[in-house]
Amino acid sequence: MVDESGIMAFGRYAHIVGWGKAVPNRVVTNHELEQIVDTSDEWIRSRTGIQQRRIAVDPAETTATLAAKAAREALEVADIPASKVDMIIVATSSPEHTFPATACAVQDMIGAVNAGAFDLSAACSGFVYGLGVAKGLIASGQAENVLVIGAETLSRITDWSDRNTCVLFGDGAGAVLVQSSPVPGGILATEMGCDGSGGDLLILPAGGSKMPATLETVASGQHFIKMNGRAVYRFATRIMAEATRRVLSKANLTVDDIDLVIPHQANERIIAVSMRNLKLPEEKVFRNLQYYGNTSTASIPIALYEALEQDRIKPNDTIVMVGFGAGLTWAGTAIKWGVPTEKETSLWRASQRSASYGLAKARSQWLRLSHLLGSNLVTEDGESLAQALSNRLEDWRKQLESDEEEEEQRHDPKQEKPSLPNGASSSDES
Ligand code: COA
Repeated sequence: MVDESGIMAFGRYAHIVGWGKAVPNRVVTNHELEQIVDTSDEWIRSRTGIQQRRIAVDPAETTATLAAKAAREALEVADIPASKVDMIIVATSSPEHTFPATACAVQDMIGAVNAGAFDLSAACSGFVYGLGVAKGLIASGQAENVLVIGAETLSRITDWSDRNTCVLFGDGAGAVLVQSSPVPGGILATEMGCDGSGGDLLILPAGGSKMPATLETVASGQHFIKMNGRAVYRFATRIMAEATRRVLSKANLTVDDIDLVIPHQANERIIAVSMRNLKLPEEKVFRNLQYYGNTSTASIPIALYEALEQDRIKPNDTIVMVGFGAGLTWAGTAIKWGVPTEKETSLWRASQRSASYGLAKARSQWLRLSHLLGSNLVTEDGESLAQALSNRLEDWRKQLESDEEEEEQRHDPKQEKPSLPNGASSSDES
């Protein structure tokens, strides 16, 4: 079987079945920025549309902790345990480290014991790139459940004395669980592009292998975001409409088929110009950048979450997500929404999951101890003591999951019927 994008799908469609969001508590308004740099609320609103942003002021709040929080919620909505996740993709431009990947920290935090994990670097286009990769993994039979997360703490790499950039960005994370299903629809097509000649227009110059950290790079602020705003603006206003048209054409759709566009939330003017080019009416364009600023690769999944929260998406709607970013990169995806958008999890189930995360944390700590101790402390069977304890914790967690499955079967008389995850029956699809 060949799907709309020409990929051999063999009846394996990739549906978004869970969604989550995490943003820091601290709100920073434009007025507060007036105290730090030579700017004004009026300038920021009129040039960007941004009114406030969230900033991770607590050092314990990192790209990985925000990502893990969003991921847990996405799993909750999808109603599957972390152990069923096959791959975790964290799209980010503010990873915790060059290596290990932030996705590995997320794997550990949520106890996704059967998952591979890697970071994806495509700047603000990263989340949509991640959806393209997830679709490929699912269509080719390599994965059933893929967590795609966009997560950033850009405030940590922002020069708070540079008014050209510091007014634009914010912190946050959004996550989706993409799941294999025989029901047609889901991610229909993706468009992923790049023009590397524009690499210098938006860049974090130092800290990589080309310009390793030195006293000079630190003193001259080379570890902060540098941007040619006007050039990026010109690129963005051209590529957003172009990428939308290309992905629609791959999915055999037209602009008229779109029910909702979720554009990268970088700048109100960029969104307005691009959507005007497409002749899309205002009510078909989702915006929330006034509350969060540009959260880079987290912006689209956070916007998707809020669009769902506000009932802007219904089953069978055609959704386009489109973004651009450093690289220069761009990406778009066309989605036929396939699952109910209202989700309920029982209290009992939620507490099971919470216990499971507690065990995952304890297991992680024992494993860390095990890595430190090596084989110094061993059981009578020659097994490392910490490894033995973590294995017991893993057994308990598995027991929790099988209890959960038994409970599910007791309460769900329809469970034998082939269905989309979350109960949408395959006959629901038109
Ligand atoms: N407050 C007040 N004045 C500011 C300012 C600020 N925060 N930032 C820049 N200015 C000044 C400039 O210094 C310039 O002053 P000058 O004319 O005396 O030199 C003036 O405002 C106009 O600057 P300009 O860069 O032409 O503004 P603009 O209308 O292009 O808007 C951006 C600037 C950054 C908002 C706009 O270029 C943009 O959105 N670019 C895309 C950025 C983006 O989306 N990046 C992320 C990609 S994922």
